[in-house]
Amino acid sequence: MEKRKIIIDTDCGSDDAMAIAMALNDERYEILFFSVCAGNVSAEQAVINTLTTLEKAGSYEPPVYLGSVKPLVRELAYAHETHGMDGMGDIGLVPARLKVTPGNGILKTIEALENSERGEIEIIALGPLTNLALAIRTAPDAMAKVRRISVMGSAGLGVGNVSPVAEFNIWQDPEAAKIVFESGLPLLVVGWDACLDDAMLNKREIERLRNSGELGRFAVDCNRCLLEMNQWRFGDPCLDMADPAALAAALCPECIETCADYYCEVDTSDGISCGAVHVDVYGFSGKQPNASVCSKLKSEIYKEYIFKTLGA
Ligand code: RIB
Ligand code: CA
Repeated sequence: MEKRKIIIDTDCGSDDAMAIAMALNDERYEILFFSVCAGNVSAEQAVINTLTTLEKAGSYEPPVYLGSVKPLVRELAYAHETHGMDGMGDIGLVPARLKVTPGNGILKTIEALENSERGEIEIIALGPLTNLALAIRTAPDAMAKVRRISVMGSAGLGVGNVSPVAEFNIWQDPEAAKIVFESGLPLLVVGWDACLDDAMLNKREIERLRNSGELGRFAVDCNRCLLEMNQWRFGDPCLDMADPAALAAALCPECIETCADYYCEVDTSDGISCGAVHVDVYGFSGKQPNASVCSKLKSEIYKEYIFKTLGA
């Protein structure tokens, strides 16, 4: 079967790295390239982390293009407490061979969509939506040819991870998220809630992954900071993997347990709910749905997908 074409937009921290390695090893898909934005770390550091991940994955090596180096309006907050100063657990990971490809990730995305058949390319967004917002504003007709934009973003139907109501990717650039959510393009939105509870990797699963080989060890070790944080938060080592959850929902839909179409509105106010995505479950707005919201995965199928694509 012909491989389905995807573009991955990433702010490559340690959970992005696991998701990227998974996507590289799902033979049903071809990653055309990576466009990189700022979020977990600076965009330049996210490029370094993406290149490192490509080398560690030992698979094919799509181009990595730098995109926007800042959110549209707000200041960069980073997520060093979760992923480390370098975004990859601060264990000294650097690419030995690969370099960034000259070119701008936003313009490359526009070019790819312009030259594609309608519905040929899916975009998977694992970071703030800055690059996609700029692409949509710059070339709406080209971007309208996208098969779907799958987003790791929002608290879904649950709680936030940077405030009671906001999830990091949306909160870091709510203006960009508003543009994407109001674009009318087909959206799959995978909330933070989809990676919690039984979707978290427990101590035994983490050990299985780490002991499975070099890629599994990399996928666990680059999440060192998150593991330490979770040991402190939950008393046990566990991994809440947001980007792998979104990647699985996008590439392996049999992993999805709960997903429904809702009208979603991004809060760009400067108040306490800034960055919230209001999911209108009961239709109070009277507006048509603009996204499919995935709030829960089938944990066994999801975890088998992780193990299979990471060689565990
Ligand atoms: O809130 C989790 C999301 O924010 C993940 O994509 C993580 O990598 C960070 O980008
Ligand atoms: Ca991310």
